[in-house]
Amino acid sequence: MSMKMISFCNKKGGVGKTTLCKNVAYKFALDGKKVLLIDLDPQATLSVQFYTNKIVKDVTLLKMFGGFNVGINNIIQKTKYKNIDIIIAGEELTKSSTILNNLYAKENIYKVGKNIFNSFNDIFLKYDYVLIDYPPTIQELALNFLIISDLIMIPINNGIGSFKGIIDLKNTLNYICRQENITVPNLRIIFNNVKEDEDTIEIYKLLEEEKLNSNLSQSVITNSKSFIKTENKLNSIWDNQYYWRQKQAYEELIKEIM
Ligand SMILES: Nc1ncnc2c1ncn2[C@@H]1O[C@H](COP(=O)(O)OP(=O)(O)O)[C@@H](O)[C@H]1O
Ligand SMILES: [Mg+2]
Repeated sequence: MSMKMISFCNKKGGVGKTTLCKNVAYKFALDGKKVLLIDLDPQATLSVQFYTNKIVKDVTLLKMFGGFNVGINNIIQKTKYKNIDIIIAGEELTKSSTILNNLYAKENIYKVGKNIFNSFNDIFLKYDYVLIDYPPTIQELALNFLIISDLIMIPINNGIGSFKGIIDLKNTLNYICRQENITVPNLRIIFNNVKEDEDTIEIYKLLEEEKLNSNLSQSVITNSKSFIKTENKLNSIWDNQYYWRQKQAYEELIKEIM
């Protein structure tokens, strides 16, 4: 059995991390794959889309560090989608850095994710994909899961800020991975929310200068004017008759990352 852990990250907000994570998860689930979502953003933008009266709020990954012998199985919650389970996010995640620094010595702080993964391997391996959504501010907890990912998907738009977000993320990963003596995970950069009349040549040049153009996905997800209306619930592009352009781009993307 094999499981693939894919992180959706950029040290820049509003670039489409959550949207991408959601649409990829939904497509995998439709195709019969078992998906575990982990939301690490205290703002819980992904989690709220899965809220039902059955979801217990504020049971986040941080519960693993409370000293109550909590297993990952205790914090995974079912969603109304049969192939999608979730570890939700919540406000308490803002305390993750403080808590980890209190519990672990400096030299062990980036081994926490790997330990959780190893300890609950049988549970992780029940899933085909573990998809993780991140906040733009990357601290110890987030880094722990970034460095054990099989793939890091980095959405960018045509803004220089999102390009800087990639460089910042790459520098952080290089630094931590060197320190931990592990290889940096594969990075896949994807243009999202690009307007029809925009061209991405300037950003492309910058990526080339940083030798990141080979990490760039061929598919480009364009801007959709009707997106905003549907972000409050899990109204994914996949059960909508429109968004054909997005669907096509996503399908190409999924072939690359599956
Ligand atoms: N391709 C797109 N077309 C139109 N709006 C988009 C697109 N991708 C994302 N958005 C919108 O942009 C906003 C930010 O996206 P989001 O996925 O929440 O970003 P992040 O998680 O990186 O902060 C949301 O309102 C979302 O609906
Ligand atoms: Mg988000």
